[in-house]
Order: sequence, then structure tokens, then C-alpha cells
Amino acid sequence: MELKVEISNIPLKNEKLDALIVFVAEDTNVYSSGLSGLPDELKKLLNASLKLKVFSGKKGSKQHFVSGYTKIPQMLAVGLGKKDELDTEALRRAAGNAGKMLSGLKANSVGFLLTSFFKESTETDVGQVIVEGLALGAYEFNVYKTKRNNKSKVNIIKIHCCDPEKITSLKALKYGKIFADGTNLARTLGNTPANDLKPKDIAAEAKKIAKQYNMECNVLEEKDMKKLGMGMLLGVSRGSTEPAKLVVMEYRHHKAKQKVAFVGKGVTFDSGGISLKPGKNMDEMKFDMCGAAAVLGAMKVIGQVNPKLNIVAVIPTTENLPDGNAQRPGDIVTAHNGKRVEILNTDAEGRLILGDALSYVVKEFKPDAIVDLATLTGACISALGHLTTAAITNNDKLMEQVHNAGIKSGDRVWQLPSFPEYGESIKGKYADLQNIGVGDSGTIIGGLFLEHFINGTPWVHLDIAGTSWNVKHISYHPNSGATGVGVRLIVDLVQNWKMLK
Ligand code: BES
Ligand code: MG
Ligand code: ZN
Repeated sequence: MELKVEISNIPLKNEKLDALIVFVAEDTNVYSSGLSGLPDELKKLLNASLKLKVFSGKKGSKQHFVSGYTKIPQMLAVGLGKKDELDTEALRRAAGNAGKMLSGLKANSVGFLLTSFFKESTETDVGQVIVEGLALGAYEFNVYKTKRNNKSKVNIIKIHCCDPEKITSLKALKYGKIFADGTNLARTLGNTPANDLKPKDIAAEAKKIAKQYNMECNVLEEKDMKKLGMGMLLGVSRGSTEPAKLVVMEYRHHKAKQKVAFVGKGVTFDSGGISLKPGKNMDEMKFDMCGAAAVLGAMKVIGQVNPKLNIVAVIPTTENLPDGNAQRPGDIVTAHNGKRVEILNTDAEGRLILGDALSYVVKEFKPDAIVDLATLTGACISALGHLTTAAITNNDKLMEQVHNAGIKSGDRVWQLPSFPEYGESIKGKYADLQNIGVGDSGTIIGGLFLEHFINGTPWVHLDIAGTSWNVKHISYHPNSGATGVGVRLIVDLVQNWKMLK
């Protein structure tokens, strides 16, 4: 299903639409929710329903009407919650709630009504937020269903913004669509099974985006990694016949004053390697490339919104499989920065491939800041569940920016402590470092391992193990499968970038 956006400034009673979405605040009537411009037929229906409390405007609530009004035969009322609690995320979720119903409306043109009711309720343009929520909520992953259910027969839906008071702009609506499309790309990459998404496919996607938006893209092969001394990345890839890749993309803006690097973990399947994972839920390890997907989705958006910053994206991508050539527990490898690392668990592979990628980006690009995104630890899910991304940092100013971007985008982030004592147990017995520590706090230890490869650059590590898939209770996310977390976080961060130092 493809959404197209359009806008018109004529009164609603002159519009002809297959369906209309109306946003209604809790415990209000049509007038106090800014809906006095509704055609009488629709107004009556909605008022009757509110009076009977069949529909209340509560958060998460919705009601579908078949109206009998020929110009707008269907209406979908969506609850906003309390008017004074309305903010960007609440509106995004209300729109996501509506988006989930879009395919079921069997409508080719679906309108939504914007009025001054929304004024000052969101920091970001309301039209943008609503389109973003709608397009995120409408996402479905059904490419592998031979008989796609006939609900989704409508292939293109025109999202028509009814904006008689000129609250928003076509540009804002398009931005909402671009942000959602980037997120939906990341979701699809995540959902695609590992037999159809290999390291070479990640590289091909990067090339495609770079070509489309005039960026540079360079893919390093295993022979290049050997020359560069990336013993950690090569060690992980040994157990798979699929060659590893290191994808490097560069976006430049002529007014840029700083350069930010994003590094995404791209393990297209994580079996654990010789330290094999248990069979239960191992299928979910196709999602172990969601960091890479976030970076790719963000680069696609960045190519269209042109932030005033130089941006480099680095994706180490490989499978982690256990064949006769696989790396063993006890092996010692040499990292790109020369450090020797003892592999004590081949399933702690994310930090190995990221370590080489981080050291490489620091040396070759000297970025002012680095943010890495990785489905790094199962422990992250124990700590924060599926609703919040964990962060480890060496720089409070960068952390604050990332945190704020999390609030604005909905991709919320919470910092974990990283006192140096947590890192004691990864000091090596036979080598400089070992790839696992002892005891609990695995998410912190994983982050502190990475810190050995950034050479003091301002850095935030984001563990998206919990937030990358199977997120419940956020209406614009699918009920299962990949969320595309990180895409809108990265984009918000670079769009609102504040100089470090
Ligand atoms: N990809 C996993 C982390 C993961 C596990 C994410 C489950 C989401 C759900 C990562 O490569 C891994 O296996 N980490 C190990 C680290 C441990 C060996 C220190 C883990 O979390 O068990
Ligand atoms: Mg290999
Ligand atoms: Zn692993």
C-alpha cells in the first residue's frame, strides 16, 4: 500500500472523500474539539456517539462510522486523550491508531481535518506529525504472503489534508511521509528473512540510496579488511561462506561545520557461532541487523531533507554462523587499532564487528561525534524492556542531544551508568581485552568494550536490542516485527544539531 499526500484549503463541506479521519479530544464535543467545520450529517453522528459514550475521545480509542452522507461515506473518529496533555507523541500515536485502519477502509482517498484546535499542541508541525503517524501505522509486511489478504486490495491511498485555516503546508506533509518511509524501509530490511537479506544485500541497499541522493558509497571487501587489520570483523565472518562487507556512506553539506558518524550493527543472522544460541526464538536473530537498517533508513531521509552537517555512515555487516572454519572460544584476534582481543564467547560478536568499524571511522574520518546503534545485548531487554533504548556515553553534551531527539521523535533513549569499575572484567587475561565480562550488567559492559575503539571521540552507544522488534503498546508500531527504531532519532538529531565544543 502506497500513500500519497495532498492538501487543500477549501471548506470541508465542499470536499468529496471516500473517508474522513477526525481527531477528538477526551470528554469534549464536536465544537470544543475544533470540529465545527464538519458537514452537519457527520457532526450529528459524532455528537450522538459522544453523547452515548460509545466513543469518548480517550487515548487509543476509535470508532468507525458509515455515514450515509454521499460526499463522505465513511468517518473514522480517533481519540486524542485529554486536550491539555496533547503533545507530539500523543498526536503521532492517535494518527498511528488511524493508520492501522487505513487498509480496512477500502478507500482511495482519505482525508483528515486540521483546525486551530491543534495550535501549540506540538513542537513539530502538526500536519507533519499526523502524516508520519498515519504512514507508520499503515505499514504492513506481507511480501511473503502469496495471497495477500483482500483487505489490502487498495494499492494507493491519497491522504488528503483538509486545511481550511492553513495550519500546515504541503512541505510539512511531505516531510512526515519521508520520515515514515525511511522508518518503513528499516522495518522491511529488518523483517526480511536472512536467506533473502545477506551482507551483500545491505551493501546493495546502501549503494542504491547513495546513487539516488548523490552520496558517496564505498564497500570494503574482506581483502580490504585484511589489509586494514580488521581481525575482529574477519574473525566473526569466518564461520559463514557469505563474505562480510564494510559499507561506508558519505553525505556532505557545503555549509557544514561538523561531521557526525553513525555506525550500525549489521549481523544479518546471529546464530551465536560456535557458542551456539538455544533454538527457541533463534529465528528472531534475523533482526540482528536493525542497527544497520536504522542507519540506512536515516541516510535515505537525510538525502531528502539536507541537514547542514557532514555525515558518515559505517555499517559492518556479516553473518555469525558456526562452520568448520568458524572462530573458536579462546581464539585471540588483532583489532583494527592494534589491540589484541580474546574471544571467550563467539555470540558476543556485535562488539567485535563494531569495534573495528568504530576504530576505522575514527582514524579515516576524524568525526566530531559518533553514535552507534546495535542490537547488542539480551540483557538490555531485562533492563529496559521493549519501550526504551539504552545508552552508554562518554560525553554528556552529546548525550543530552540524543536524549532530546529521542523525546521529539518518539524513539526514546535512557542513559545507563558507565562507571569505570564496570569495565574491569573485560580486561584480558591473555590479551589486552576479552569480549565478555563476568557477572551482570551486560549492556553496560558491552558498551564499555566499544569505548576501547573510539579513541576519546564524543560518542553515544545505543543498545536497541529491546526496541527493534516486537514492541507493544505504541500504536504507530506494528504489533510484531521490526519497528525501524533509530531512523527518526538520527534524523531529528542531525536536523537539530548543536555544535559540540
Ligand atoms: N544479538 C545478540 C543480542 C540479542 C539477544 C538481542 C537477544 C536481542 C535479543 C548479541 O549478539 C548477543 O548474542 N549477545 C550476547 C552477549 C553475551 C554473550 C555477553 C547476549 O546478549 O547473550
Ligand atoms: Mg566468511
Ligand atoms: Zn550474538
